[in-house]
Amino acid sequence: MTDTTFTPRVFSGIKPSGGLQLGNYLGAIKRFVGMQGEMEALYCVVDLHAITVWQDPVELAHGTREVAAGYLAAGLDPTKSILFNQSRVSAHAELGWIFNCVARVGWMNRMTQFKDKAGSNAEKVSLGLYAYPSLMAADILLYHATHVPVGDDQKQHVELTRDIAAKFNHDYGVDFFPLTEPVIGTHAARVMNLRDGTKKMSKSGESDMERINMRDTADQIAKKFRKARTDPEPLPEAVESLKDRPEARNLVEIYASLSDTTPEAVIAEHGGAGWGTFKPALADLAVAKLAPISDEMTRLMDDPAEIDRILAEGADRAAALAAPILQRTYEIVGLRG
Ligand code: AMP
Ligand code: TRP
Repeated sequence: MTDTTFTPRVFSGIKPSGGLQLGNYLGAIKRFVGMQGEMEALYCVVDLHAITVWQDPVELAHGTREVAAGYLAAGLDPTKSILFNQSRVSAHAELGWIFNCVARVGWMNRMTQFKDKAGSNAEKVSLGLYAYPSLMAADILLYHATHVPVGDDQKQHVELTRDIAAKFNHDYGVDFFPLTEPVIGTHAARVMNLRDGTKKMSKSGESDMERINMRDTADQIAKKFRKARTDPEPLPEAVESLKDRPEARNLVEIYASLSDTTPEAVIAEHGGAGWGTFKPALADLAVAKLAPISDEMTRLMDDPAEIDRILAEGADRAAALAAPILQRTYEIVGLRG
């Protein structure tokens, strides 16, 4: 391996904490599927990241299989992409440690996700939660990944990955790690909470009515969209008029992303419609797109041994790609003997 050639390669991951929600699907998984076949790709269930906050061990193991089932059900093909869980490839933790020694405390202090998650409780959260972005950098750089499809909330962490790569290369006088690009979607890169259009939809929000879970039933999906907060105005005739209407814009973006079109096209079709018309149309669309994935996840979860087999095989392939990169890193750093 010469230090300066970087074959295009995709890496991304999702934490197995709580179930998958619509933001994970539109911001991440659907785009993973879209990139499949364009270049070599690794999609990871990042279980080591999940334990930065407490996880019940039985639920964590279940959640890992469930995210893997979500990947498969949405269309990731283990013969085309490498699907695995992070803890099976120990090189992630090893490179993560080296990056803990490259990253600066001041960089970590600027991470907005840490500030949001720790809130006023920063003294009590785990050290892992604070160091998490350097493990994420290790996930990516362990494979010399050049492209990282993520939702908008992860942009800062991918930028930090570049900073770590650049500092490592500079400090050791090498050109070893690539400067990785975040690949962020143009629409639905930040799916918002259904009850508050200024907050991100997440697995951990207080009320289940805030989010659409991938395993919700058709009735739950319809009810959540029906009760989604909106302003009283109908849909505008021009997309620009959504600018100061976060809830309305969110529903239009979700519709556009689910139907593989643009907000402009949605407005061209539904502009002027009231919520009594648009919300049921959105619910029908969501059910049509999500129900087959949810059904397939249920089917796959009936055979956990098959999921484990796919993850173990993926881990072997991932470990084989990681080994020479970790070994070379050790040599560069002077860890040998
Ligand atoms: P997480 O569930 O935090 O592990 O997130 C996994 C992936 O889903 C990351 O690429 C996130 O950026 C993406 N993601 C999570 N929530 C959202 C959201 N509300 N909108 C868009 N992308 C999201
Ligand atoms: N930090 C990401 C999140 O919370 C998950 C993640 C971990 C990840 N390692 C990654 C995403 C590497 C992309 C690449 O959503």
